Amino acid sequence: MDSKWWKNAVIYQIYPRSFADSNGDGIGDLQGIISKLDYLEKLGIDAVWLSPVCKSPQDDNGYDISDYQDIDPMFGTLRDMEELIEEAGKHHIRIIMDLVLNHSSDEHDWFQEAKKSRENPYHDYYVWRDGVEGVLPNNMRAAFGGSAWEWVPEVQQYYFHQFSVKQPDLNWENPKLRREIYDMINWWIGKGVGGFRLDVIDQIAKEPDKMITNNGPRLHEYLRELSQETFQKADLVTVGEAWGATTELAKLYSNPDNSELSMVFQFEHICLDQMEGKEKWDLAPLPFMKLKEVFNRWQTELHEKGWNSLFWNNHDLPRIVSRWGNDGEYRIESAKMLAILLHGMQGTPYIYQGEELGMTNVAYGIEEYRDIETVNLYKERLEKGYKEEEIMRSIHAKSRDNARTPMQWTSGENAGFTDGKPWIKINPNYREINAERQIDDENSVFRCYQQLIRFRKAYPVFADGDFRMLLMDDENIFAYTRTNEDSQLLVVCNFYDQTVRCPLEEPDASMKLLISNYKDADHTMVLRPYEARMYLKEK
Ligand code: GLC
Ligand code: CA
Repeated sequence: MDSKWWKNAVIYQIYPRSFADSNGDGIGDLQGIISKLDYLEKLGIDAVWLSPVCKSPQDDNGYDISDYQDIDPMFGTLRDMEELIEEAGKHHIRIIMDLVLNHSSDEHDWFQEAKKSRENPYHDYYVWRDGVEGVLPNNMRAAFGGSAWEWVPEVQQYYFHQFSVKQPDLNWENPKLRREIYDMINWWIGKGVGGFRLDVIDQIAKEPDKMITNNGPRLHEYLRELSQETFQKADLVTVGEAWGATTELAKLYSNPDNSELSMVFQFEHICLDQMEGKEKWDLAPLPFMKLKEVFNRWQTELHEKGWNSLFWNNHDLPRIVSRWGNDGEYRIESAKMLAILLHGMQGTPYIYQGEELGMTNVAYGIEEYRDIETVNLYKERLEKGYKEEEIMRSIHAKSRDNARTPMQWTSGENAGFTDGKPWIKINPNYREINAERQIDDENSVFRCYQQLIRFRKAYPVFADGDFRMLLMDDENIFAYTRTNEDSQLLVVCNFYDQTVRCPLEEPDASMKLLISNYKDADHTMVLRPYEARMYLKEK
């Protein structure tokens, strides 16, 4: 086992606009984050991944960057960012930045120049195709609705955008663009950041003429060059967002030789409650047996050949307790079960803000939604003739805004998030679900996460043990062991709300119960609703 720090780390994702507002404008900011570093240290995490804070017109909440080397005034200044890096360091927390390299904002100087003329030196920083107005180069669609092509009269060409029209795709085939990106990254490395999360990184090597978006032929060539020119110069963690990753590809990305990235976010487990060939909005139940198969495959195939990221949530996904847990009667039990199930595995766990409190989805009327994807989807489906009720059901289940409602700090006004008017409505359940209430409650979801993080630091088996799935055919129980030379972990989880008998033998007395989500859990193999137990044997 090598000694890469991030193999023993737990990373916490902050969505800055929804975390903590320091100046009453209703939007979270960098000083807000600084004010919560004690909280984060108490939780025990090692690094914070910040969703983008660079200058941006905020068409896609910062995933549309207009200046990679400046901070958006909404979040603060470059000086605040430096202060955050420094203050976080004093709390033993590294800051991971979000690099959006597949596209920039259309308001970036590069694009402003690029669209002036075909001869402009920046023209080739983007992806253009000749054509005639009204006749699209092909029928590729953008992720947030509409065509992926946009006409620019000045140059009599279309530019390519995989996301919104305000997010033109960057042209990675151009070595000058690549150089410019590396210089920018090295500048951030010089500021002392602890690593990077790379937004939709598997889409940078697109070949629109062949309808290729992700996993383009030159992808790994670009990544190796990027890594060599930047990341390898420092001791960083890097994690790429790769919706199209398979285990085979993940072994390339996260090759232990460090030639590309530390790890990727893959989404095979996340996409399971989506039907083949359908959109995420077309709701389908979670196939539990498939979930077991998927985790088993990722855990065993990457063992010693790559590295997994472990996550249930991020700023694009609904809240896991509302999705695959139970956000009613068993909210606390099921939130802890999902945490125990995930945190016992091999990889680097990520916690998305509020997950450690068991925060839930929301069900607002359409006027309360802010996310460009949700708003566009609503219009698009209405036009297609879907019933409003059905659209709202999809939005309540899957909208990205489920994750983006403000962090629930206290039971006081605006959940302690802001003194002003929050940019998006706060989940009304904040009086019951909030950090203040949970920190000192030994039975809280927060305490469960805190303990799981401590275990990962205390017992090397969390990082290096091999994974073996147990009871593969059991339709209720998710159970596995993790084993290294001197210890063994056993994790047993009831995934549903019925009491079940677990066919495993009772763990013997040498197996110590590390953590459970029921106060009086013991060694008997009857599992109550969502009951989860983690045992440890030290040889
Ligand atoms: C990633 C981000 C998402 C964003 C998209 C375009 O998927 O996580 O929030 O909208 O990329 O940048
Ligand atoms: Ca603010």
